[in-house]
Formats: sequence, structure tokens, C-alpha cells
Amino acid sequence: MATIKSFAAPHKGLRNVISKFSFHLGYTDFNDPVQLSKLKSLGADMFTLLKDHVNTENNHTLKHLEERVHGASEHDRHDHEKLELIQDSLEHQLENFIGNESVDEIHSFYLSFSVFQSQYLEHIYEEETVTELLLQQNFTDDELFHHRAAIMQKISFPVMLLWMKYTIPAQSERESLGMLGGLKHNAPPEAFEQVLDVIAAEMDAERYKSLVDKL
Ligand SMILES: [Fe+2]
Repeated sequence: MATIKSFAAPHKGLRNVISKFSFHLGYTDFNDPVQLSKLKSLGADMFTLLKDHVNTENNHTLKHLEERVHGASEHDRHDHEKLELIQDSLEHQLENFIGNESVDEIHSFYLSFSVFQSQYLEHIYEEETVTELLLQQNFTDDELFHHRAAIMQKISFPVMLLWMKYTIPAQSERESLGMLGGLKHNAPPEAFEQVLDVIAAEMDAERYKSLVDKL
């Protein structure tokens, strides 16, 4: 049975950005344009990653699985359809906030986001405990490695930067060294510098230094 976990890294990144958004949403003063704009920017990062991720799963991970095990992708695809509707509605609401919302409107959005968060966490738990096993049982590590490489090749640089921004700080140093080591080897030096700048802004100085010293 294969050992590569296809969902582990992106899901750690998603859990990070979703939790961060929930935390910021809880304290943001919508009447303060700077705070509201920061929340919208964090929300834009989160929705970009959520959309990129569902497309990757539908068009790569679940597509491969379905080709090998007929019917095995149905449950997750169905979840994706339901979650995307909620996600799109939340994104639309966030974009349309202008700072004159009432306390009740803001609290209602906070609660809607919280329900979405719980549904999303349950969905990715299912993927990591059921779908992940199906992938490991039906593909070799070599095949799973090539699936991941094909996904990475298709991601645009700005979206890849976003994945690094939220995934690297959310995983162990050992996992990050594996990911960044490969990137350092394959990416142009300027691009790698940009990745480091983005990560540095998201990590404790001590953890960042320890990571970079080992690269
Ligand atoms: Fe999913």
C-alpha cells in the first residue's frame, strides 16, 4: 500500500486560512475601512485557495480515483457541489460589505461562516480518512507522486505563493523542508526569494529562522 498522503499538506493550509479568517472576522470593526479591507483581503486569499483546491480535487485526484474505482468519487463530488454553493454565497456577501452593516448583520455572517467552517472540516476529515485510503490502496507512491507533480505544474505562480503562505507555517519543519527543498531546486532564485518573503511574514521569527537555516 502506498504511503503518500495526497490531502495532508493542502488541507493543513486550508485549515490555517479558514481558522485565521474566522478569528479575524470575530474582531473586525466593519466601520473601520482599514480593518474591513484587511478582512476582505484575507477572505480573497481563502476563497482563491478553496476554489483552486476543489478544482484540483475534481479534475485530478477524484478523476484518477474514479477511473480506477468506479463510483468512489461520488460522495466527495456531491459534497463539493453543496459546499461550493455556500462558499460562493459567503464570498459574495463579503465582497459586498461596505462598512454600514448592523451588529446583527455582522453576527449573522459570522455564524454563517462558522457553520460553513464546521461543514468544511467534516468534509476534509472524510477525505483524509476514507478517500485517502482508497488512493493509497489503488495507486503506487510513484503514481501519487506524479499526480502531485502534475498538479504543481498547472498552478499559476501567484496561487502557488498563496499555498506556500498558508501551508508552510501550518506544518512541521520536517514537512516544510521537504516541500521547500524541492522548490529551491526547481524554481528560479527570484521566485524562491518571493516564496521566502511571503512565508517570513506569516511565521514567528524563531521558527522561520530555524527553517531557513536548514534549507
Ligand atoms: Fe474536497
